[in-house]
Amino acid sequence: MSLSIVIMAAGKGTRMKSALPKVLHQIAGRPMLAHVIGTTASLGAARDIVITGHGAERVEATMRALYPQAPLNFVRQEPQLGTGHAVQQAVPCLPDEGTTLILNGDTPLIEAATARALVDACQGERLALLTINLPDPTGYGRIVRDASGERVLAIVEHKDASEAQRAIQEVYTGMMAAPTRLLKKWLGQLTNQNAQGEYYLTDVVAMAQADGVTVVSAQPRDEVEVLGVNSPMQLADLERRHQRAQAARLMEQGVRLADPARFDLRGVLQCGQDVEIDVNVIVEGEVQLGHNVRIGANCVLRNVVIGDNVVIHPFTHIDGDTQGAQVGAGSLIGPFARLRPGAQLGEEVHIGNFVEVKNSTLANGAKANHLAYLGDATVGERVNYGAGSITANYDGANKHRTVIGNDVHVGSNCVLIAPITLGDGATIGGGSTISKDAPAGQLTVARAKQISLAGWQRPQKVKR
Ligand code: UD1
Ligand code: CA
Repeated sequence: MSLSIVIMAAGKGTRMKSALPKVLHQIAGRPMLAHVIGTTASLGAARDIVITGHGAERVEATMRALYPQAPLNFVRQEPQLGTGHAVQQAVPCLPDEGTTLILNGDTPLIEAATARALVDACQGERLALLTINLPDPTGYGRIVRDASGERVLAIVEHKDASEAQRAIQEVYTGMMAAPTRLLKKWLGQLTNQNAQGEYYLTDVVAMAQADGVTVVSAQPRDEVEVLGVNSPMQLADLERRHQRAQAARLMEQGVRLADPARFDLRGVLQCGQDVEIDVNVIVEGEVQLGHNVRIGANCVLRNVVIGDNVVIHPFTHIDGDTQGAQVGAGSLIGPFARLRPGAQLGEEVHIGNFVEVKNSTLANGAKANHLAYLGDATVGERVNYGAGSITANYDGANKHRTVIGNDVHVGSNCVLIAPITLGDGATIGGGSTISKDAPAGQLTVARAKQISLAGWQRPQKVKR
């Protein structure tokens, strides 16, 4: 049986009061529409049809970039005359057989299992609606059932509902599955004779009734799956609920979050055993933490692999971006450290406060403990890189490499002008500006010789 998925994403999102199309607003660092498309990927649909309208070009370009492999078909809806009109635009792309599943681009947390259950409830011949009971059903389409409560007779939009209908707490979530052949027929019969002058997709329910087609309902596992976003407040609320759920999953695996309400995961986090994460930590992209890792308060970690027994002290920012970053076992990082793309740290490396490392390899036991910059450098084992020292890796046009051998000691406040090599065991005197290679095992100093002037007098204030 072929499954077609239609995702409605043309709406304006007026209440977001934003120039960004609503479905591109993010939950957990990903556009809402990307969550829905990602979820549908596991349903094995023959085609995904996304209805775009407001900000269509931007929406389409963003999704193609995020899902280059997905069988996405974008269909424009101009102007937007309602949800029924939106699905009508997909009709030319729909085959006559199989089932069509309709989802919403602004309801991002729908789970694959729930979508699958909805398709199963349809059985290729019934109309299946995803419904939920809400204490406050204001604004939603109400599910009107017969006296027995068994059969669904219609969906009545809030604006079209009578007082009695408004008391119904079972609402339509905006998601349904229908036999494609029947859906196409019903879509052809929609009118806009209603309070909003729109073509309501929900009118297909009464049509199914008239055709003697059974209408069934399915429910989501959790309310969060069917919450749509219309305003910044709802976006933030959904974000928090989602973050709480992610935090709970990590804690079930044994991760110790100091406060699950002050933790944000915008991507994928893999943790070993006995990982402790203090408050206000943000994890983005793909992050791996080994066993016994401790992350201090207020750290931001993105695209990094962190080995066993590492301690990341508070206020550290690690961003591997597309290149990635790596912190070897037993290393100590921060507080206030910054690791940038291509930072590859071996084991037992120490990076202290206000130290920046970019596109550099530090071998086992290397230390840069205070106020330093290492860019485009290869640093040997047990190197001690002094406070205030920097690699001058950029000549204004090109980047150059600094190679520091094993057991090198770079004093404080040195400038290493790349390209340059410091041989194994070299010592660089503090305050040196080094522009030529330094030989192994020797002290190299490049600064004005210190002199003292005997009999020198401080200037005196002139008396008048
Ligand atoms: C719709 C349902 C309502 C349900 C509610 C759940 C209808 C008529 N009503 O109402 O029963 O309780 O969802 O949230 O379907 N869209 C388009 N093109 C349009 C109009 C909408 O693509 O012309 C898209 C929107 O971008 C959005 C979705 O369809 O993703 C739902 O539209 P929205 O206007 O929010 O529907 P509601 O009026 O809330
Ligand atoms: Ca509407």
